[in-house]
Amino acid sequence: MATRSEAISIVFDDVSYRYSVQDDWALAHIRFSIAPGERVTVVGGSGSGKSTLAKLANGLLKPDTGCVTVCGEDTTCGDVRKIRQRIGIVFQNPDDQTVGGTVEEDIAFGLQNLQVPRDEIRRRIDRVLSLLRLTELRSRPVHGLSGGQKQRLAVAGVLAMNPSAIVFDESVSMLDPENATHLRSIMLDLHRSGITIIHVTHDPEDLLKSERILVLNEGRLTFDGDWRALAACPGVLEEANMLSPFLIRFQNEIRTNGFDWPVFIGSEKELARTIWEFTSKM
Ligand SMILES: Nc1ncnc2c1ncn2[C@@H]1O[C@H](COP(=O)(O)OP(=O)(O)OP(=O)(O)O)[C@@H](O)[C@H]1O
Ligand SMILES: [Mg+2]
Repeated sequence: MATRSEAISIVFDDVSYRYSVQDDWALAHIRFSIAPGERVTVVGGSGSGKSTLAKLANGLLKPDTGCVTVCGEDTTCGDVRKIRQRIGIVFQNPDDQTVGGTVEEDIAFGLQNLQVPRDEIRRRIDRVLSLLRLTELRSRPVHGLSGGQKQRLAVAGVLAMNPSAIVFDESVSMLDPENATHLRSIMLDLHRSGITIIHVTHDPEDLLKSERILVLNEGRLTFDGDWRALAACPGVLEEANMLSPFLIRFQNEIRTNGFDWPVFIGSEKELARTIWEFTSKM
């Protein structure tokens, strides 16, 4: 997969944002920093501020107080065009991302705006169409695509720009299980190649594979850490209107029933082995 060597750091320093003075704060006093090449999962209930955070990260929205910096560049007064080229966002609603025409024209649009040479545009389109399994749809009009196909096209359009960091805002929500798994594996490959990944998700099952998790609850950051630390903080996910992954709920239920169960098991294989050992001692 073609990548850039430069990775991106993102810093939120006491950031608050509201859409208008009559509104409540969509985000309040948010502080965290993402190191170059990190992979971060952002979770929280509906309206908790995940998409707002995504848009603040690449300068589409500017903080009301505090500041957001991308590679040391302040999004309020820095070169926002440059920042947006470096951080791509796959929007939650693919209709906000696609410009129309055919699939191929849609991907070419952003590249033409950046005056990328024609041969390079063709190479990048071929690469991302194949990666997102859209090659057969290349001449299809965008308005005739299904929701999931549009979502894959939105991802293809962002990848074609070769960003150094990508925010995926609920990008698997409309995909069937096979395409969702494929997109998650693309995210892991991008991360392995040095790209900073922010994955916004509602799906509790994404948590177990996360290296670092940010939990938003009504505009506040209530947790920042890895999955093991989150499993040790009962209530954080529930208070944020999120379920724990099935594996964890299942084990909590076993403990509630009085069994002396190990503190944390994070994979289906580990769980199966422990159940086997447990039952063979009975
Ligand atoms: N364009 C807007 N104008 C006014 N208020 C908005 C706008 N967009 C979002 N909000 C409000 O800001 C808050 C945070 O919204 P946001 O879209 O960031 O939440 P979210 O966590 O992404 O939710 P979801 O999981 O439903 O996508 C909500 O209260 C929402 O109603
Ligand atoms: Mg959202």
